[in-house]
Amino acid sequence: MAIERTFSMIKPDATKRNITGKIISKFEDAGLRIVAQKRVHWNKEQAGEFYAVHKERPFYGELVDFMISGPIVMQVLEGEDAVAANRKIMGATNPEDADAGTIRKEFAESLEANSVHGSDSPENAALEIAMCFDESEIVG
Ligand code: CMP
Repeated sequence: MAIERTFSMIKPDATKRNITGKIISKFEDAGLRIVAQKRVHWNKEQAGEFYAVHKERPFYGELVDFMISGPIVMQVLEGEDAVAANRKIMGATNPEDADAGTIRKEFAESLEANSVHGSDSPENAALEIAMCFDESEIVG
């Protein structure tokens, strides 16, 4: 298994409920290390660019509006097979399908307000990390 990095984001529904620490504990308890982190409030252009891959999907507009409805906390997580490990910790995109003990099962409110985003592949992790962090902000 290789040490890799993935991109993670705690969404506005979770920052609003002041549960970022509870979510971060899940990453650390599972052996992932936070090597970069910042809290920001995106504007429409930033959220639209990040989720541009979903531009043609019917939920795109609402997704962008939700993502600018409050602050988010972005992270770079590092560890063994970090992309797959993080997806396991998060659980299924729809909280109704998520396994017990996962972040989305415990904290998510709905498919849209699902508390966290995580990269779905090492290639997208590299792209998302580069989009949101300068190399100097990542400290391993
Ligand atoms: P995320 O991993 O951030 O990637 C895109 C997001 O779109 C997804 O989590 C969901 O929160 C949101 N979303 C809203 N509606 C849908 C849908 N029908 N299918 C997939 N994702 C959706």
